[in-house]
Amino acid sequence: MKEDVNLINFSSLLHPFQGTLLTTMGTDIGKDGEHKEASKPNIIAIAWIMPVSTTPPALVFAIRKERYSYKLLKENGEFAVNIVTRNLKDAVFYCGTKSGKNCDKFKETGLTPEKAKFIKVPIIKECIAHIECSVRGIIDEGLDHVLVIGNVISAYADSEYFDKHWKTKKINLLLHLGGDVFTTNENSEFKATPKSSS
Ligand SMILES: Cc1cc2nc3c(=O)[nH]c(=O)nc-3n(C[C@H](O)[C@H](O)[C@H](O)COP(=O)(O)O)c2cc1C
Repeated sequence: MKEDVNLINFSSLLHPFQGTLLTTMGTDIGKDGEHKEASKPNIIAIAWIMPVSTTPPALVFAIRKERYSYKLLKENGEFAVNIVTRNLKDAVFYCGTKSGKNCDKFKETGLTPEKAKFIKVPIIKECIAHIECSVRGIIDEGLDHVLVIGNVISAYADSEYFDKHWKTKKINLLLHLGGDVFTTNENSEFKATPKSSS
């Protein structure tokens, strides 16, 4: 029997989404080159994210305007998407429940900021893949999230776990079901069977 799902929970029907950690940073840098407290690199957990173009490469994610990361994104115009594995579940949950307005999430989670290839915003060393982006545009349709479109400048992944697609027999990706509940891929890989044309 199919029962009605409360519309407040409709999005859960579309999960799991790949858990990601998105890094941002402000532009308020002191004379000594040090980041002032309010512009330090920050990390936010983002699950509502997807590609929207391959040529040119671009992605989109949904973010609430009140997030501290949104303020930093608008200041700086750059961000990195860092792909997470199951072992990072607690760090992802921390970054997804605390605001960088009140804490240093790199310090609190023990995650390590690492220099990105092209953007000033750091990537996260412990993640297995990174997508460096610049903000292409923001779509605000008066909903409770806005859509941020990112131009993909660079993408790189640990070759032990990725070759054109994730090697799911070797890696447990962290997939978000909702709230504090996660799942992961089973250690298998299978192909679709093409229908034979008659
Ligand atoms: C797994 C997970 C995924 C999340 N996905 C999103 C998302 O796609 N968009 C969003 O606006 N918030 C999302 N959140 C909530 C933010 O990560 C959370 O509000 C965070 O504390 C904001 O941090 P900030 O204020 O430092 O930017 C998610 C939370 C979790 C735990």
